[in-house]
Amino acid sequence: MKEYITYDDVQIVPKVSDIKHRSNCDISTRVTKNWELNIPIVSSPMDTVTEVTMAQEMNELGGLGIIHRFLSIEEQSSQVSRVTLGPSSAAIGVTGDFVERAQELVQSGCKILCIDVAHGHHKLVKEAMRRIKNEVTGKFDLLVGNIATKEATRDICNWGADGIRIGIGGGSLCSTRIQTGVGIPMVSSIWDCVSVSDEYNVPCVADGGIRSSGDVCKGLGAGADCVMLGSLLSGTKETPGVITKQGIWPNEVLQKKYRGSASVESKMDRGENKNVEGYSTTIPYKGKVKRIVQDIISGIRSSMSYVGANNIEEYQSKCEFVKVTNAGIVEAKPHLL
Ligand code: XMP
Repeated sequence: MKEYITYDDVQIVPKVSDIKHRSNCDISTRVTKNWELNIPIVSSPMDTVTEVTMAQEMNELGGLGIIHRFLSIEEQSSQVSRVTLGPSSAAIGVTGDFVERAQELVQSGCKILCIDVAHGHHKLVKEAMRRIKNEVTGKFDLLVGNIATKEATRDICNWGADGIRIGIGGGSLCSTRIQTGVGIPMVSSIWDCVSVSDEYNVPCVADGGIRSSGDVCKGLGAGADCVMLGSLLSGTKETPGVITKQGIWPNEVLQKKYRGSASVESKMDRGENKNVEGYSTTIPYKGKVKRIVQDIISGIRSSMSYVGANNIEEYQSKCEFVKVTNAGIVEAKPHLL
């Protein structure tokens, strides 16, 4: 049986470097075959993460925000049309009104349609991609997921994906691995998927389980072209939803909601109650997302300097991982107290 590993299991080996200024490191990348980003960060298509305000801010920061699909076609398209600067992107499913939705979104200016389903390696996805390509008019790229294996990567590349979203069961609110026993640890999953997607020149987005800029670096270093973030961006000003107060002044705490797309709460709002595979929680209010994104960018540039890489491609080729023991995992975190 193969041993598969994830972010905490590895560290990146420092290498000789000639980087004088970290700010010179180029962190531009591709998210799909035809779309470049200035920074390798994509916000998740979840109803507590990305609507028009987050999408707009991510564009302004050089990344991408994918507007979630749990809105009426009219509302989602209207949000897409309000995003300026660069690509806008929006999520769709593979059943029901998806073709009509895809057409409206593209007509409203959506440049990247994200097929957003829990199990992307599915015949329904193949059929949906075929219909979208045949029936939706206009120019757009298809970002397809989620998947976690070499076989899935080969299939969705052959079905015509322009970008792939890697990650099954690793999300911070995800209960898939607990409920079903299904999932692949992220670092190995990225290695596997990238080994195939490279043959097709299709970019990969690592999605789920990223808790720090260090994890972002490990995802990119393992070969992902971008990372997708949910929890790290949750609770910020630009996420949908209201700020609530907990406690009484001066000890009050401000919070925002973060919920899994397949959580009971989310599903109940959509009038569904089957296949619950996620949790909901509240997050201490974090203020502007710009500050968090800037911290992550600074972490990526610093990591590039440690391995002597001037750009993401060089970083991916120079990144060497070592597997660490439990003692190494403890040592990797602040451990004085
Ligand atoms: P993070 O770890 O960044 O993960 O919070 C965000 C990703 O988690 C996935 N997601 C879910 N997975 N049940 C799941 O199994 C859910 O209810 C759920 N909601 C989101 C999704 O891929 C997202 O980008």
